[in-house]
Amino acid sequence: MKLAIIGGSGLYELAALGLTDEHRVMTAWGEPSGPITSGTLHGTPVLFLARHGPGHRHPPHKINYRANIAALDELGATAIVGTAAVGGIGVATGAIAVPDQLIDYTWGREHTYYDGSQASPEHVDFSEPYTSWLRDALLDAARTSGIVAVDGGVYGTTQGPRLESAAEIDRLERDGCTLVGMTGMPEAALARERGLDYANLSLVVNAAAGRAHGPITMDDIERELADGMRAVRAIIASLAGSLAGR
Ligand code: HPA
Repeated sequence: MKLAIIGGSGLYELAALGLTDEHRVMTAWGEPSGPITSGTLHGTPVLFLARHGPGHRHPPHKINYRANIAALDELGATAIVGTAAVGGIGVATGAIAVPDQLIDYTWGREHTYYDGSQASPEHVDFSEPYTSWLRDALLDAARTSGIVAVDGGVYGTTQGPRLESAAEIDRLERDGCTLVGMTGMPEAALARERGLDYANLSLVVNAAAGRAHGPITMDDIERELADGMRAVRAIIASLAGSLAGR
């Protein structure tokens, strides 16, 4: 098996990855966010792609999600973990979560490989948007690393790049969302369309809009990112170790 990590905000490289190669891939859907690095992490072949590209140059609504997933697929990825920095709706800041459901509030993104050129579109099943064995492996990896991760939750993907209004978060809460981010979709659905296992590993970096006093500041988010990404890296390292030889 080959594990791919799509690093979200705060995770721009995997320093522990014995970097053997850098791949600049061009796909039928264009260029991915940046070069993809590959190496071996605790015995498992791993690919790494920074979702926002070098220097965080692609905002959430401009990311070429189709090219990202296609490029990882072409390089042999069989399972993908997408990491994300998210807002918490009833989930504490600093928490790590492995959601089990999602709701897509985005619009205007290239969200499918079925662009009309195929004889007929395939309507992929998405009842369980995240792959259950990979979620379990992430939760086990967290446990092994001594990190208490929230098992389950609903990741609502908003369009961004602005943060939400308090009323928008009220609506997401009524819908059952516990996490809010800007990049969860269409990534998960595209992985499903290509038959790749996919799970999300989220770090809560702020209380969602209207859930704390005052505005959400980038300074607060950056501080939480720096702390929380250590845990995210530990979980990824432990996950890679647990998948060695599979
Ligand atoms: N909302 C949407 N995306 C986010 C947030 C948020 O509060 N925090 C980090 N990414």
